[in-house]
Order: sequence, then C-alpha cells, then structure tokens
Amino acid sequence: MRVLALLVALSVAVLLAFDLGPAEALPPSAESGAELAARWCADCHMEQRSDAPSFNTIARRRSLDDIRASLTKPHARPMGGISLNRREIDDVSAYIKSLNH
Ligand code: HEC
Repeated sequence: MRVLALLVALSVAVLLAFDLGPAEALPPSAESGAELAARWCADCHMEQRSDAPSFNTIARRRSLDDIRASLTKPHARPMGGISLNRREIDDVSAYIKSLNH
C-alpha cells in the first residue's frame, strides 16, 4: 500500500511538472504512452481477447502519422469511445511505434 501511495504521489508530481511547462515543447514520451496503454487499451490490444489488432501488429503495419490520425477519431465503440488529448495521442503513438524493433 505504501508503494502505491508513493506511486500516486509521484504521478501527481509528474503531472504537475508537465502542467507547469509548455506542453507543446515536450517531446512525446513513450513511457507515459505505455502507462496510458496499459490502463485504457490493454484489454483489447494487448490481451488478444478481442478482434483488435495487437499493438505489435499495428506498429509493423502503420506509420506514426497513421497511428496518430486514427487516434484523433472516435474509437472503440464497444467501450463507449475513448477520447485522448493531443499529448496523450503523441505519447501513446510513440509507445506503439516503439514496439516495432
Ligand atoms: C473496446 C476495445 C478497444 C479498446 C479499449 C481500444 N481499442 Fe483500439 N481498436 C479496437 C478495434 C476492434 C480496432 C480495429 C477496428 C477499428 O479500427 O475500429 C482498433 C483499432 C485501433 C487502431 C488502428 C489500427 C489499424 O491498424 O488501423 C489503433 C491505432 C488503436 N486501435 C489504438 C488504440 C489505443 C491507443 C487505445 C487506448 C487508448 C485503444 N486502441 C483502445 C478496439 C479497442
């Protein structure tokens, strides 16, 4: 539990730090993207429990711009649609692309 509290405090600190700086100037963070993906996308894209293509497959098939473009559209209707802000789109796209090694 203490570890969890520490993690929460850390995330808040990171979020605050991001808010203070000019968000546009920050490069996309594949690390934040990975956290976001684990929370919002894993059920469909990482567990192979649905017909969604895996992120590995997407990384191989699509360019970074394609991924970003598809995330700006409403997505995944079964879940009521997920909408990400620009920063989140950049981060999660960078993460997906980083899987393509
Ligand atoms: C409820 C299940 C579900 C969730 C949750 C979900 N997706 Fe998807 N996603 C799909 C399905 C199904 C497709 C393929 C059909 C489509 O494009 O609508 C897809 C397609 C995509 C594509 C385009 C793939 C391609 O090659 O055209 C991207 C990129 C993507 N998802 C990213 C994400 C990200 C990032 C998240 C989390 C923020 C996410 N998805 C959450 C089900 C889901």
